Amino acid sequence: MSEVKLAARVEARLDAIVDRVAGAIAAPIAPVPPTIQAEIDALWGERLGALDLPEVREGFLADGELVVLPELIPAAFVERVLAEIDAAEPRRTRIPLVRSAQHVGWRTLQRISPRSTALYRSQVFLDWMTQLVGRPMQAKDPADDHACATYEYTRAGDHMRPHYDTCGCEDGASYTQLLSLHDRSSQRLVVDLHTRGDRPVERRSIQTPPGTLVVFCGSKVLHSVTPLGPGERRVILSMSYASDPTMKPWKRLFENVKDALLYFGPSALVRGIRSRPGA
Ligand SMILES: [Fe+2]
Repeated sequence: MSEVKLAARVEARLDAIVDRVAGAIAAPIAPVPPTIQAEIDALWGERLGALDLPEVREGFLADGELVVLPELIPAAFVERVLAEIDAAEPRRTRIPLVRSAQHVGWRTLQRISPRSTALYRSQVFLDWMTQLVGRPMQAKDPADDHACATYEYTRAGDHMRPHYDTCGCEDGASYTQLLSLHDRSSQRLVVDLHTRGDRPVERRSIQTPPGTLVVFCGSKVLHSVTPLGPGERRVILSMSYASDPTMKPWKRLFENVKDALLYFGPSALVRGIRSRPGA
């Protein structure tokens, strides 16, 4: 048997084992009250509909798949989302020189924040993202804690070093949408554009007042967050769609191990290993 065939057989066997173990573990799919979903679909429809999509797309592509939309969502609305999230107990993670922040993952958000859930699940937003990117976008697995999660910077020095996103999807398949919920800080989102092309690299330092939406392809745009100052706070709702969110079970397991160590704690290990398209 050739090495390639052997590797494929081992991978298939590994997938089958992981899938069997995960099969009995149901992902949480918490319902959103229809009135809240309708309210948020209408909000996305109104705010995104007011934009000139071809113009936004032109800028998005010219900047290597990044666009910043200030004042997209009204401050009064993001305050309500933040109030829901503040009821959760975030998990703090710190890796010296790499990142420090606290997080509430998607599995928890679905239980405690119907508005965050509705923002992410909105077909109106998904359709708009599909048009912006130019490829069909899909929501990620309901058990993928990174699908929609908070990044809360609350202690002086909280930061994130420059990185590209690796989510287990193919490069260029996953898109991040950062919605600022709170920003009383000097912290900045810093992006390096065109790092993987022929054009000169361009660095931008982006302030994110509440209601700002930043959309980018995480595997193309190098991004980081500068250290938080004393007495400051900045809260981001990070949402992620992908053109093909399906993940092989062993890859899902690898991502869960990474999430457990870096973000969401041991519970991320044992849930949602089974890959589900869309959802
Ligand atoms: Fe990232």
